[in-house]
Amino acid sequence: MRFAATILVLRVASSFATVPAVSMTELEQQLQTTRAEAEAAIAACTDLQALTQLKAKYIGRQGAVTAALEKLGTLPKEDKPRVGKLANEVKNALTAALAAKQEELEAKAAGSGPAIDTTLPGRRHNIGHLHPLTQIFERTVAIFRRMGFAVEDGPEVETEWHCFDALNTPADHPARDIQDTLYVDLPPDPKYGRYVMRTHTSPVQVRTMLKHKPPIRIVAPGRVFRRDNPDATHSPTFHQIEGLYVDKNVTVADLKGTVEFFFKQLLSPDTKVRFRPHFFPYTEPSFEIDLSSPHLASRGKEWLEIAGCGMVDPNVFKAVGYPDDEYTGWAFGFGIERIAMVMWSINDIRLFTENDVRFLEQF
Ligand code: DAH
Repeated sequence: MRFAATILVLRVASSFATVPAVSMTELEQQLQTTRAEAEAAIAACTDLQALTQLKAKYIGRQGAVTAALEKLGTLPKEDKPRVGKLANEVKNALTAALAAKQEELEAKAAGSGPAIDTTLPGRRHNIGHLHPLTQIFERTVAIFRRMGFAVEDGPEVETEWHCFDALNTPADHPARDIQDTLYVDLPPDPKYGRYVMRTHTSPVQVRTMLKHKPPIRIVAPGRVFRRDNPDATHSPTFHQIEGLYVDKNVTVADLKGTVEFFFKQLLSPDTKVRFRPHFFPYTEPSFEIDLSSPHLASRGKEWLEIAGCGMVDPNVFKAVGYPDDEYTGWAFGFGIERIAMVMWSINDIRLFTENDVRFLEQF
């Protein structure tokens, strides 16, 4: 079939090849013949490849109908519109016939036999995963949930009162200095003072105690901000998780037991925890928590300072309106980047926010 069509086309094409001026009737007749032959060839065509060739030979750039259209210029002026119209009709008719045939043949090809090899293995999509810091947050929250802690949230844009005053942090404390803290350029709140990007998650303690009466057992994961120049260990933004437990007769023993349990769960059962006396305005006594863990061996250090904690200062209870001497409680603040760096021996805090996939893929 393909052979017959080719012959046909060659004949039609060659009949146009050299004649510079064709009489009107001759060109019209050629167009009619071309149309009839092409339509027959298209109708008889049974495969897509042959159809592509038919298309080229009739309406392609070198095709018979195109050649006829090019000859229009040689016709007397008065004949041009009529023959031009016919040539266009032929072209449109053949274009439509070719398209219809193509659709028919494609439908047939799709319906006959498996064009898709269903035995081939599928193409895998790369599935992403959680950011290492999100993973630490989720694991930390899961461990505290098992101990009966709820999750609390607070705003990143805080007021000075929630961030400092209510936490027994006096106006001349370095944490409040413009050198250390990012203040927000908004008119101050009449009651709670200037707006600051929270420097720690501790204001969530205050917000929680203002809302609820003890017993309180919460953790508050979130982002914090400080006026720091970025280097391997400093970043103007990082993450913390705050813990707060307030009830009757809560003791340092509860604090130490909880912190120890947490780190053994998160890192490994042979992790050791040490409390070192320290000072925080909102806790009394206050401690820094040091860890000793096989994870630290690569750093050549036995103990690493990891977090702060202590017994809630009575002045904090006073600020939130709890009655005198009725409750005791403890609080802690852990740095999430710090924990991730220990866990995975990461040596530069900037890696967490650079979002280099080669780094992120490793966790
Ligand atoms: N807010 C402290 C910081 O950002 C961490 C901290 C220390 C939180 C002691 C506490 C705490 O709740 O009791 O460094």
